[in-house]
Amino acid sequence: MLILGIESSCDETAAAVVEDGVRIRSSIVASQVSTHAIYGGVVPELASRMHLEAIDPVVDQALAQAGISLDDIDGIAATQGPGLIGALLVGFSYAKALAWARNLPLAGVNHLEAHICSLQLLDNPPGFPFISLVVSGGHTNIYHVKGPGAFILMGQTRDDAAGEAFDKVAKMMGLSYPGGPAIEALAKKGDPEKIKFPRSMLKKDNFDFSFSGLKSAVARHLHENPDMSEGRPAHVAAGFQMAVIDVLSTKLIAAARDKNCADIGIAGGVSANRTFVDILSERAERHKIKVFSPPLSLCGDNAAMIAARGWEMIRDNQICGLGDDVYSRVKFTVGAAN
Ligand code: KG4
Ligand code: ZN
Repeated sequence: MLILGIESSCDETAAAVVEDGVRIRSSIVASQVSTHAIYGGVVPELASRMHLEAIDPVVDQALAQAGISLDDIDGIAATQGPGLIGALLVGFSYAKALAWARNLPLAGVNHLEAHICSLQLLDNPPGFPFISLVVSGGHTNIYHVKGPGAFILMGQTRDDAAGEAFDKVAKMMGLSYPGGPAIEALAKKGDPEKIKFPRSMLKKDNFDFSFSGLKSAVARHLHENPDMSEGRPAHVAAGFQMAVIDVLSTKLIAAARDKNCADIGIAGGVSANRTFVDILSERAERHKIKVFSPPLSLCGDNAAMIAARGWEMIRDNQICGLGDDVYSRVKFTVGAAN
């Protein structure tokens, strides 16, 4: 079964063709990042306009790269939410029109569930049940993934997302947007033990996170230590990154032990951070827990993960109608299925 996936929730316009939910036939991502970088973050109105321009050629490219035409497609999957409303509307309306015109089933995909499904595109995916962390610019959520489509939220950030903290700290330090890759590169030259930043919520008996205190601690440190010569920015970046990694790793391993899971799968933009993957893998191994992370091409926003989740939904007859609308937020309840 061939599914055409469409993603437009933030600043990437993406289309992909995925076979049977696991085999990527094509995956095209048109990033707007260089346009938004000038403003230090995503400008929603600009994003919507750029999606409008990109969506048609991106879908054409995805079909061409897969070596097929629209006649070969069995179903369409598009991100329904959460994300920027104007941006979501472009991809979702396009998908609705295509599904209607071609009389194809349409899946309205939850972007966060799709990030978790990026792990099933691996040659060797995690086995159910597993613990998953969706860690991006908008979310830091831990799930107990009991089976296909069964995502139970165990904890989430109470303020900033981890990726957002990377972006904000990078901005304070005069680094480029998005901040994650810039901080990771700078941190490689620093000593993570030199400046000790706070680890919020580490001792709390739950799986929630908080990163705004850490962000303020970095701001305070920069204010009180204006002399940033001799490799000091690298120590700040390394100290900040290690504080984030420490909290994420500790809570993930605790969640896996709590639910007796042998596998942890991380997904979302921040899972592109190799230092995080390496440290988490090493710590998890001590508890005989294996860590899975997507290749770089599937860490950030892409449409292959949307098609992967959409395939499950279409298979399970979770189909959307023309009257269905996009949503900007999901109201999460810890312990409840999404
Ligand atoms: O999943 P994503 O592409 O978009 C959202 O749905 O938010 O994630 C983007 C986030 C940004 O905050 C970016 O700074 C972060 O992922 N990111 C990283 C790295 N690469 C991207 N954070 C830490 N280290 C990285 N190497
Ligand atoms: Zn995302």
